[in-house]
Amino acid sequence: MNWLKVYQDDHKAVLLLLAKLEGNIMDLKAGYPSPNPYLEFEEFAHVIKDVIIPHFKNEEVTVYKDVSEAGPEEQSFIKNMLMEHKALYSVFDQFFNAVEERDNQKIIEISGTLIQVLRHHIIKEEDELPKLM
Ligand SMILES: [Fe+2]
Ligand SMILES: [Fe+2]
Repeated sequence: MNWLKVYQDDHKAVLLLLAKLEGNIMDLKAGYPSPNPYLEFEEFAHVIKDVIIPHFKNEEVTVYKDVSEAGPEEQSFIKNMLMEHKALYSVFDQFFNAVEERDNQKIIEISGTLIQVLRHHIIKEEDELPKLM
């Protein structure tokens, strides 16, 4: 299976959506009138549930598992990546709650964390993981 290609396609799509989310957050901060400002956030919540979480779960049982079995350096790298997944699962839950509650301040705060941590995770995976294969 060409896992790298599949993962990279997901990564590219998610990075684009993070840029879009960043724009939506700026609009929310600026107080732009919109018929339903939460529609974009609800859509992003669906992307998290339907694409990002399955992508994480899939990595955990395939590429992460294989790489971590290769040696101590690989194992410690993967341990770190798994900790980032864990932190992100919790950020995702906080994002779902904030969107459900339609709490603008919470949406702004948690989206900032989500964008920063997820972007960093994807870039690290793209840069470092292929070297360990
Ligand atoms: Fe990952
Ligand atoms: Fe990934």
